[in-house]
Amino acid sequence: MPNKPLKLLQLTDCHIVPEGKRLFTLDPAERLCQAVADINRNHADAALCVLSGDLTDAAAPEAYRILRQILSELLVPYRLIPGNHDDRSALRAAFPDIEADEDGFLQSRLDTPAGVFLFLDTVEAGIHSGVYCRQRCRWLERALTEAEDEPVYLFLHHPPMEIGMPRLDQYRILQSEGLADVVGRFPNIRHLFFGHVHRPIAGSWRGIPLSSVPGTNHQNSLDLSEGRANVVSLEPPAYGVILIGPDSTIVHQQSFLSDAERFQYDAQAELDAAGA
Ligand SMILES: [Fe+2]
Ligand SMILES: [Fe+2]
Repeated sequence: MPNKPLKLLQLTDCHIVPEGKRLFTLDPAERLCQAVADINRNHADAALCVLSGDLTDAAAPEAYRILRQILSELLVPYRLIPGNHDDRSALRAAFPDIEADEDGFLQSRLDTPAGVFLFLDTVEAGIHSGVYCRQRCRWLERALTEAEDEPVYLFLHHPPMEIGMPRLDQYRILQSEGLADVVGRFPNIRHLFFGHVHRPIAGSWRGIPLSSVPGTNHQNSLDLSEGRANVVSLEPPAYGVILIGPDSTIVHQQSFLSDAERFQYDAQAELDAAGA
């Protein structure tokens, strides 16, 4: 286990659209370019950048080509996982190197100095809710068994639990008992990172710490009421800057479009002045 924490980045829900189109008045490609430029300026030393699904808005081949072009500028190695707005075939056509399990789900494992990262595929064609079926559970169980006592970090698009926002909760992983049963048998799972909710969230599920970060384009406003449609908002986008150490996992959020004024604050100088 290294003394220096492993730096990991999370970009989520880019929802790239074909050229000339906009999404909620914004250009998702421009937003992603701004995030990539910010990463290259400030976090080019990260070990990995995970894009946690909804890479495109409607799975157009052109949108995946745009995504690939933008990511070619990223100085950090990256991994993609699919979301409900993606299509496995279109994604694989644009990114032929993306790993898949023996059943064709885009699931993979990455060994890092901080532990084992497992990337899960929760997508079911034709619906926006997440699914984690028996086949996928079998892959996960085997991957967790093979990880032995290593710390394990899980990455997936849909959250497996309700977050208290009924408009979004209808699109979580439905019937997640199988997934819960598998993860419940492996106490070395340290954290669960997800996307899909377009919100900054931290908490735990069945004792496993979890987090999500805002999307790079649009957000879902915090609305706890019942209803069919999400209320989209243009709250500021962000990406996650995650530090994984031997005994901690810290999730920062970088608000990459913020032009808020900054001030140097020297706490010791204040004490010195008071004592003078
Ligand atoms: Fe999304
Ligand atoms: Fe989603």
